[in-house]
Amino acid sequence: MNLVENSYVPAHLAIEAMRDNGYKNTAYAVCELIDNSIQANAKHVQLLCGEAERQLSTRKTSRLEQIAVLDDGDGMSPEILGMALQFGNGTRLKRDQRTGIGRFGMGLPASSISQCKRVEVWSWQDGIENAFHVYLDVDEKK
Ligand SMILES: Nc1ncnc2c1ncn2[C@@H]1O[C@H](COP(=O)(O)OP(=O)(O)OP(=O)(O)O)[C@@H](O)[C@H]1O
Ligand SMILES: [Mg+2]
Repeated sequence: MNLVENSYVPAHLAIEAMRDNGYKNTAYAVCELIDNSIQANAKHVQLLCGEAERQLSTRKTSRLEQIAVLDDGDGMSPEILGMALQFGNGTRLKRDQRTGIGRFGMGLPASSISQCKRVEVWSWQDGIENAFHVYLDVDEKK
């Protein structure tokens, strides 16, 4: 059997399974992102919530449809941004360093997909006009 082609971790199944990963609620998941902001030396962290009105069968209701965490920390180079949404990857892995809040390279992707099916990360270090962007869309991996 070719273990490269027959991966032990088939991405489309693993990502769906990992959505049920133990974050108690949205607040706990958002805290994971705020931890990252603090770790990146942010002085300000903003939580932006996007609500939309939806018509249910008998009534209209407002639902939280988008959440964004915005910080003014160090930002990420394109290389680091490329790792940010990889499960188990990051710049603070246990083998590299034992201080600080981050350790496993799991917080950002795991907390995000526990709450939503699409996560986008935008970052810039040299002006917003030079922003880079990565995303993970659970439905695209099916
Ligand atoms: N707000 C941010 N500002 C700058 N870099 C960030 C930010 N969020 C994430 N990163 C980068 O993305 C990497 C991955 O983040 P992630 O939360 O997945 O892992 P971690 O913080 O290293 O460890 P843990 O699993 O314990 O949270 C981080 O190591 C960091 O380099
Ligand atoms: Mg983290």
